[in-house]
Parts: sequence; C-alpha cells; structure tokens
Amino acid sequence: MTLMNAPPHNNPMPANGATTPSVIQRIERGETVLAEVHSTLASTEPILDIREFRLWYGQSQALHSISMHIPKGQVTALIGPSGCGKSTLLRSVNRLNDLIDSVRIEGGMYLNGQSLYDPGVDVIDLRKRMGMVFQKPNPFPMSIFENVIYPLRIDGERRKAVLVEACERALRGAALWAEVKDRLHTSALGLSGGQQQRLCIARAIVAEPEVLLLDEPCSALDPIATLRIEELIHEISTRYTVIIVTHNMQQASRVSDFTAFMYLGRLVEYGRTAEIFQNPHLTETEDYVRGRFG
Ligand SMILES: Nc1ncnc2c1ncn2[C@@H]1O[C@H](COP(=O)(O)OP(=O)(O)O)[C@@H](O)[C@H]1O
Ligand SMILES: [Mg+2]
Repeated sequence: MTLMNAPPHNNPMPANGATTPSVIQRIERGETVLAEVHSTLASTEPILDIREFRLWYGQSQALHSISMHIPKGQVTALIGPSGCGKSTLLRSVNRLNDLIDSVRIEGGMYLNGQSLYDPGVDVIDLRKRMGMVFQKPNPFPMSIFENVIYPLRIDGERRKAVLVEACERALRGAALWAEVKDRLHTSALGLSGGQQQRLCIARAIVAEPEVLLLDEPCSALDPIATLRIEELIHEISTRYTVIIVTHNMQQASRVSDFTAFMYLGRLVEYGRTAEIFQNPHLTETEDYVRGRFG
C-alpha cells in the first residue's frame, strides 16, 4: 500500500510538504492573481478597453482590477458562479452603477478609445451608445410601437416617418416584425414573455448602439423562446458588438465567440469560446465549465 503516500499527479508537492494552492484558493485568500488571457485576444480589434477596473459597494469590493479588451463585432460571454460580479461589470459599462449611492470605482473603461469615466462624460449621451436588456423582460405599459421607438422619442425625434421606419427596422432586427406588424398600436403587455424580450431587444437596438449589453436575457424564458433569442443574438452579432452575461454554459458556448470566466470579482481566464470550453489553460476553468463547481 505504498501508493497511498505518493503525491497526486497534478498536485506538485514543494519541499515544505504543502501543496501548490490553486488559482481559486489563491483568490479566496485574497491574493492578486493575474488573469489567464489567451494570446488570440491580442489579434482582435477592441471596441471596449477595461483597464484595472475596481468597484466597491460600500466597504465590500465586488470587482478586483479587471483588465480586458472586448473585441468589436463579436459576442463575448461573461460566465462564473452567482455573485462573482458579472452583472456589476456589465452595468459598469453603461454606468448604471452610478445610480447606487454606495458605489465607488477606480480604474477606467474606454469605448472606441474614449474614456467612459472621465468627469466630463455626459452619462445620458453615453447610455445612448449602448443598448441594455435585463433578465426579466421590462416592456413599458404602452403600445408595441411606442416601446420600440421610446429611445428615439426621449432623444427628441418627432418625425413620424423616421419613427415608423426605425420601428420596423428594429422589430425586423429583433425577429419580431412578422408577429406584431398588424398590432403595433396594441399594448406590449399582451405579448408572450419571449415576444416581450424580443421587443426589449428591438428597443435596445433601435438607436443603433455601439454595444449591446445582455444580462441573462433568457433566464425568464422557456426553452423555445430561449432558442429564438439565441438565434437572434447570432444574427445581431453580424452588426453589433454583444456582451452577454449567462450562467448557462451551453448558451455561452452556443452564442459567443469569446468567453470570460470570472470568480469572486476577478477575471480568471479569457479566450476564444471554443478554447475556453474544449481546451482551457486552467484546471479551474475546466472544472467550472464541466459543472464540477459553482
Ligand atoms: N446594489 C448592490 N449593493 C450591494 N452589493 C451588491 C449590489 N449588487 C450586487 N452586489 C454584490 O456584489 C457582488 C457581485 O454581484 P453581481 O454583480 O450581481 O454578481 P453576478 O451577476 O455574477 O451574480 C455580490 O456579492 C453581490 O451581493
Ligand atoms: Mg447577475
């Protein structure tokens, strides 16, 4: 039974007898751990550059020095266990966290080279350059038409022809036009959950945003409505840069080009989706995408 004393294969034993801590263990101890960013990212054209971004809710730090490039015209998925900071990072991109009093940030974000967090930035203007869709569909209690063109209305657009044209374009873009074209002036609240979420996507793209932010957009939908949204994300990604938060591994692997694995407010590993799922560099990433923890 001498084998019992042999060290496990992938757990090298240093001279002092302690095993090398894993990345996850080091993160849990609060150590600074550099993210494993694949070299493929270097050959992409970034639309968004996140630099050493840190965020606190009061005393509690939710994001720890996140540095990453989001490639232009691609779908990037943010994955990781609940509470690891995915939504916080996504909301930081369009400065929705500004609305929370206790939030403090350090570091920066740059959209097409322009700082998002400089004191002079017009936040309303900034949010117009991004569309956002949340977990639960949130249509406004108004007609389908008014929902879709809402961002243009609040921007002061009054020309009927422009609004009508934009509404149809956005609804076609969100794969909803055929289903609603004959009832544009009825309440959006009469739509099914899946239709409501596609309506929210139409509203998010009507102003031709530079980036589309999706926070678990399918979590309130049934499998068929989910598939339709996933197909839609695929189509949309030919025209927009998409960042999608998802806790669903299959979804991340189906819809995204790049995947970032986060843990306890840190970026752990980031690379092409196929690499992250089939050939990750870290055993921690492999364990997570195989469903062994989280
Ligand atoms: N408004 C808030 N106020 C205080 N803490 C928050 C707030 N929103 C999120 N948090 C905390 O920040 C951490 C990250 O949360 P979140 O970004 O929602 O994670 P995820 O989307 O990955 O589940 C969690 O510990 C969460 O409790
Ligand atoms: Mg979340």
